[in-house]
Amino acid sequence: MKLKVGLLTSLTTILSLFARAYSKLCTLVPLGPGQDDTDQVEVAIAECGQYGELVFGSGDYNITRKMTWNLVASRVDLYGYLNFVPDIQYWLNPNNTYRVVFIQNQASWFVITGHDFTIDAHGVGGIQGNGQTWWTYYTTHTREGGNGRPIAFTLSHVARGLIKDFRIEAQPFWCNTVADSEDVVYDGMYCNATNTNPAYFGQNVVPNTDGIDTYRSNRVALTNWDITCGDDCLAVKGNTTNLYVANYVCRGGNGIAFGSLGQYANLSDIVDHVEMQNLTLLRLPSNIQPNMVSGVYFKSWTATANGVPPTGGGGGGGYVSNVVAKDVYVDQALAPLRLYQTNGGTSGSTASYLQFSNLSFVNWSGTSLQSKVVDIECSANAPCANIQFFNFNVATPNGTAPEYECVNVVSESGLSGPCNATGSA
Ligand SMILES: *[C@@H]1O[C@H](CO)[C@@H](O)[C@H](O)[C@H]1NC(C)=O
Ligand SMILES: *[C@@H]1O[C@H](CO)[C@@H](O)[C@H](O)[C@H]1NC(C)=O
Ligand SMILES: *[C@@H]1O[C@H](CO)[C@@H](O)[C@H](O)[C@H]1NC(C)=O
Ligand SMILES: *[C@@H]1O[C@H](CO)[C@@H](O)[C@H](O)[C@H]1NC(C)=O
Ligand SMILES: *[C@@H]1O[C@H](CO)[C@@H](O)[C@H](O)[C@H]1NC(C)=O
Ligand SMILES: *[C@@H]1O[C@H](CO)[C@@H](O)[C@H](O)[C@H]1NC(C)=O
Ligand SMILES: *[C@@H]1O[C@H](CO)[C@@H](O)[C@H](O)[C@H]1NC(C)=O
Ligand SMILES: *[C@@H]1O[C@H](CO)[C@@H](O)[C@H](O)[C@H]1NC(C)=O
Ligand SMILES: *[C@@H]1O[C@H](CO)[C@@H](O)[C@H](O)[C@H]1NC(C)=O
Ligand SMILES: *[C@@H]1O[C@H](CO)[C@@H](O)[C@H](O)[C@H]1NC(C)=O
Repeated sequence: MKLKVGLLTSLTTILSLFARAYSKLCTLVPLGPGQDDTDQVEVAIAECGQYGELVFGSGDYNITRKMTWNLVASRVDLYGYLNFVPDIQYWLNPNNTYRVVFIQNQASWFVITGHDFTIDAHGVGGIQGNGQTWWTYYTTHTREGGNGRPIAFTLSHVARGLIKDFRIEAQPFWCNTVADSEDVVYDGMYCNATNTNPAYFGQNVVPNTDGIDTYRSNRVALTNWDITCGDDCLAVKGNTTNLYVANYVCRGGNGIAFGSLGQYANLSDIVDHVEMQNLTLLRLPSNIQPNMVSGVYFKSWTATANGVPPTGGGGGGGYVSNVVAKDVYVDQALAPLRLYQTNGGTSGSTASYLQFSNLSFVNWSGTSLQSKVVDIECSANAPCANIQFFNFNVATPNGTAPEYECVNVVSESGLSGPCNATGSA
């Protein structure tokens, strides 16, 4: 309860910014085909981004360079799309993106920073990521996390920001990240990474198109999200605290992730107080994209570092606690609820010391593609404590008996049978 009240208070504070009178107003319209809008956008942000107001008229703004908006006590109404030119080689040059998101050395082409601002895209504007060009390119080139593919929309070092009714079309890589921030509300977010090239129908050519990764941030609310992607619709990463998620639709991909955690041997990852409600996880038609792996899943690396980040790692400690996931509907998920602590590990790796505790799963429904609907495999070095279920009723295929597996779980309650199944899900 404490969590919710805190967030609603900050939401109210942020919403009160709507009523503020701004001293400066900048209005923009797209320059038109063949023209470059980057300069006029930067000039307007410099002029009105602090103690001012900006109105972007409808249409496409041609953005050809990386851009940071430092917003202070300001408001942006975005009725058009910032259209990021799909020049892959240009963006992959590290000089042409920012590296403000520390984890896995991710790149960003557009960064918002500052405090006390609103960006409202009114459900008609946002970012055009032109992802198809990227997805097609990577069907014949090697793709690695942290290789410089840009995050579409990054919030970094933000305090008290509201992002409202924002659309991101065809994100090439992660759709959103919020890092090193506090008191941020995203109310209304749409991301859609859907391959439209028939040559790749039925495969997942859109991996790493995560809805959002949260990192080193406190008091973030994600409400009314609609994400289509080929990876994590939401990835809760290290030092995310007091996260509130409600009315979240996830289409395709891997589901909602906690992790991966413990990748950096020198950093502990703490995830504390996460409340999620009304999550809808839907499988896409298999000719479009074949994945709907999990509903909610948790993953940590082992205590042994195998390789180094961004692609290898392990050895980091920390904990995940006080998580509630309620009113969850999963549609044909492969493994509706899963926890594992062996990411990147080998048989010789030391079991993780990162501990999961106080996890509650309330009112789950829908369907699973396998009988094992709960698969919680905790580390021998950090057994899971206090795993609670209430009304957990995900239907199994062909009316088979549901199987529940718990490994190194010291206290669990609320399932309709013993949590003692064995073997892979
Ligand atoms: C964007 O601007 C560049 C010049 O910087 C231009 O060559 C290109 O045609 C423009 N793109 C569009 C879609 O207008
Ligand atoms: C990045 O910029 C630096 C400094 O201007 C330059 O020395 C370097 O060659 C550039 N790197 C690439 C990959 O273009
Ligand atoms: C996502 O984009 C695809 C391709 O344009 C479209 O068919 C689909 O309806 C979109 N999904 C949503 C939820 O709007
Ligand atoms: C649950 O989420 C869906 C999709 O966002 C929304 O349509 C519905 O109104 C929500 N239900 C409640 C009770 O808020
Ligand atoms: C932790 O290790 C990473 C490399 O794995 C390094 O980039 C980072 O600076 C280190 N952070 C601290 C706080 O030592
Ligand atoms: C998380 O916070 C803890 C405690 O403040 C700190 O020791 C740790 O380095 C932080 N981890 C990350 C990933 O920033
Ligand atoms: C259980 O969750 C579903 C959505 O997944 C919702 O429609 C229903 O109202 C919830 N039931 C209760 C008792 O809250
Ligand atoms: C887990 O919940 C118990 C009971 O509410 C509480 O005492 C304990 O501090 C919680 N554990 C963590 C790691 O927050
Ligand atoms: C359920 O029945 C269908 C159709 O008979 C079959 O193809 C499928 O393998 C069965 N699934 C399981 C898990 O038994
Ligand atoms: C799990 O426990 C139930 C009830 O005690 C028992 O019937 C079943 O055989 C057990 N399953 C396994 C795999 O141990």
